[in-house]
Amino acid sequence: MLKGELTTAAEIPSERLERWTACLNVAFTWHGLKALGLDEDALQTFPYEFRKGMAARAHVLGDTGSSAPEHWEFGGTRSGGPRDEDLHVLLMLYARNEDELNTRLAHQRTLLAKAGVQELSCQRAAHSRDQDGRVSFREPFGFQDGISQPVIQGFRKPGRHPEDDDSPIAAGEFILGHDNEYQEKPLSPTVRANRDALGRLNAAQLAGRKDLGLNGSYLVLRKLQQDVDGFNAFVEEKSKEIVDGCPQDDAKKKEWLKAKLMGRWSNGAPLKPGQHEAPEPGPHGHSNAFNYSQEDAAGLGCPVTSHVRRANPRDSIEPEPGLSRQVSRRHRILRRGIPYRGEPQAENASPEQGLIFIALNAQLGRQFEFIQQSWLHNEKFGRLYDERDPVSSNQESGMMTIPMTPLRRCMTGIQSFVTMKGGGYFFMPGVSALEFLAHLEPATD
Ligand code: HEM
Repeated sequence: MLKGELTTAAEIPSERLERWTACLNVAFTWHGLKALGLDEDALQTFPYEFRKGMAARAHVLGDTGSSAPEHWEFGGTRSGGPRDEDLHVLLMLYARNEDELNTRLAHQRTLLAKAGVQELSCQRAAHSRDQDGRVSFREPFGFQDGISQPVIQGFRKPGRHPEDDDSPIAAGEFILGHDNEYQEKPLSPTVRANRDALGRLNAAQLAGRKDLGLNGSYLVLRKLQQDVDGFNAFVEEKSKEIVDGCPQDDAKKKEWLKAKLMGRWSNGAPLKPGQHEAPEPGPHGHSNAFNYSQEDAAGLGCPVTSHVRRANPRDSIEPEPGLSRQVSRRHRILRRGIPYRGEPQAENASPEQGLIFIALNAQLGRQFEFIQQSWLHNEKFGRLYDERDPVSSNQESGMMTIPMTPLRRCMTGIQSFVTMKGGGYFFMPGVSALEFLAHLEPATD
């Protein structure tokens, strides 16, 4: 199963990344691990959020209304669709071009059919290319994405901007079995030691148990549909209402307003007080080395309620910047968003499009769920009153404050520009755990 099929970190030294034409990764839901035959006592050692699954966490994630699990294409509770308990395995196939992808996909489908695996859903996603043929990391609203990623202790991050914050985050925030930002090992699933007759797994801290989590991670998958027409229409309408303290040219004013909603300029530049248009990137792109407490405490550049400032408040959480940086480091995720495109839903409308959002973290509750619930969806975030993330939140008629001098602006009528269409929580095992799972025999005692 493993040899020659799956891509492991050991096979891809970062300096040789460009030589790779395709990658394959695999991850399992809790129901998938159960279907593989993992013992009940081992299944119960997985964290609560993972055992319950994403659909059951809808109330925490704000997945209500049209984003509720009863409407999801997969992983939800819709009768007829692949439901939460039907999803067992996630196969992620990446290739440099369509032909390579199709060849690899056909090969995997043959192998899986032989193994009796039923395909429930297939989702394609791709980055577009710019005029020079370079991969473009623009998400469907038109913003440069994937800029701010945590640097992980012990890993070299290729192509980093020389000014970026050089304080790597503990590996245990993303990979089980390693120290995290609390100088502790994150909770790791275990199996009875006698189930590992071939000694593939390391001993767990608890006597008589083996560690199934070492070098594994939890993967969040969300298909997020983006209402690009609705977002643009909102920006068009609201930009007419703002006359002072912003660019006077219509196109520039719309760009300015979009940037205020997102918290970065669409070309990826951080927002600074007093700017009326995006600065050009330097030879290394835009730096990610910025904070808020000194440069922009009131949000005159980057509004407190914007998506980016909520998703990672950096040093701006009161009462103290140092403490805030420490708190922010404990709520980071590794993000990989890839745009998808479907068919137009109505005449003259844009095709259905959005992001296949992937996040990796060691503790779903403290990292992904916390960001979603306590920062993005929190109406009282940063001393605000009744405001949510204007970009990704699920809301019917939301509000956003744009701090300006002499008077702030309040924008009302923000709708949900993003609708949740399906997803799940997955466990991505390390190589030894995957070997163990691949050879799991039925329990005899
Ligand atoms: C369709 C929905 C979404 C869109 C269009 C979107 C778009 C963006 C963009 C354009 C950026 C700035 C580029 C960058 O720093 O990489 C960003 C940053 C970020 N987003 Fe999202 N995002 C979405 C959903 C989410 C969700 C659901 C989460 C987590 C629950 C999230 C977490 C983050 C984080 C942590 C950052 C980095 C902030 C920083 O470190 O400064 N995003 N997003």
